[in-house]
Amino acid sequence: MVGELRSRLPQDFIIGSATAAYQIEGAVAKDGRGPSIWDVFCHTPGAIKDGSTGDVACDHYHRWRDDVALMAELGLDAYRFSLSWSRIHPDGRGAVNPKGLDFYSRLIDGLLDAGITPFVTLYHWDLPKTLQDDGGGWLDPGIIDAFTHYTETVCKHFGDRVKHWTTLNEPWTFCWWGYGLGEDAPGLSLGAKGALLASHHALLAHGAALPIIRAHAKDAEVGIVLDLNCVEPLRDDPNDRAAARRFDGAQNRWYLDALFHGRYPDDMCELFGKIFDQHDITGAKQPLDFLGVNYYRRSVIAAGDDMAPLAVRRIDPPGRYTEMGWEVWPEGLFDLLTWIDRTYRPPCLYVTENGAAFADEPCRDRTEDQERLRYIEAHLEQCARALAAGVPLAGYFVWTLMDNFEWAEGYRPRFGIVHMEVERQIRRIKASGHWLAALQRARRRCP
Ligand code: FCB
Repeated sequence: MVGELRSRLPQDFIIGSATAAYQIEGAVAKDGRGPSIWDVFCHTPGAIKDGSTGDVACDHYHRWRDDVALMAELGLDAYRFSLSWSRIHPDGRGAVNPKGLDFYSRLIDGLLDAGITPFVTLYHWDLPKTLQDDGGGWLDPGIIDAFTHYTETVCKHFGDRVKHWTTLNEPWTFCWWGYGLGEDAPGLSLGAKGALLASHHALLAHGAALPIIRAHAKDAEVGIVLDLNCVEPLRDDPNDRAAARRFDGAQNRWYLDALFHGRYPDDMCELFGKIFDQHDITGAKQPLDFLGVNYYRRSVIAAGDDMAPLAVRRIDPPGRYTEMGWEVWPEGLFDLLTWIDRTYRPPCLYVTENGAAFADEPCRDRTEDQERLRYIEAHLEQCARALAAGVPLAGYFVWTLMDNFEWAEGYRPRFGIVHMEVERQIRRIKASGHWLAALQRARRRCP
């Protein structure tokens, strides 16, 4: 199977892994890091399923050298990681923490020395606490200035060495789940109104940050990462079709139309009319070098009562599911990539996250995670199919390097291609990781 895939993925197709600062770094009070909204949320009783926190996580802050060595052993071409904003600006704006910058500087150098290309995400959900306390975080238009200031600080420091930047990771997720539904930090249940306002500022902050990145990181490729869904109606009837269209409008088109056309979709503006009237989103439209797509599952949607005013219901059709309860649906990745290509014509696409949580049973030194291996293989096959269909897909990042802190789900879901024994901080490559390494070796051997 490795051989077959190898010949269908071009030599310059990037295969990497992705992580996020709060999910792996730990060292939350070390060397001047300020608290983030996730530190606060995790210490709120009942917020995290297993009562855990990211206080230590994978202790990557201290063990990053081991992690870079693991990536080299896995033969990864690239590593997508995020910066902790409050490690760099402990109060969100103003004073810079030199030790925070030093940490990322060493990591970037370590990656480059190992021949691994760094892909940096500026924001993967860990907003500095002060920014939430002072103005309401993403609900406050003042966040745009804070974000551009932070962007300027990091791009001035790393723009010479980092040539792949993304502004935000999954604005839909952190705005709807954090500000709308209250299930992620900062835990506010303000409904669609709050989610849309937070999203509006996030999209504008992205647009404002882009020229700053370009000014300080010469010849860089700049993009954004969205959590996009392949949406299908449950039944082929007008009610379910309209519900699926609304869901697709809220999660996919709301962001894509803003980024590529500088406006929100008309049907959604009408639907959200009573709760949201800030329709000027021209500031979000900036030329993108690439769009990052996080894909995990398909969404089968029926008319229902959830997510007012969307009035939808998510249906779980019979099939295979991961530990997160997410359907395994690799074909959806092909459908999604070809749809984005046809509809928005981005110059380049990356699958910036894709992966699966399964209950791994390590046996001595081996974790035979065959289900994960098959999941990754099946999705890489869909990447190859998309390439053959002419989609400008440049790479694939598996979520995730090692088992880590899975937000409100705690440590139970294991997504890593490396097994992590959190208590003893022991890392062991799983069968899926060995398989990926073999694929990489085969790709390097045979042009
Ligand atoms: C994505 C997040 C990532 C991780 C995966 C499982 O939505 O970007 O941090 O939690 O889901």
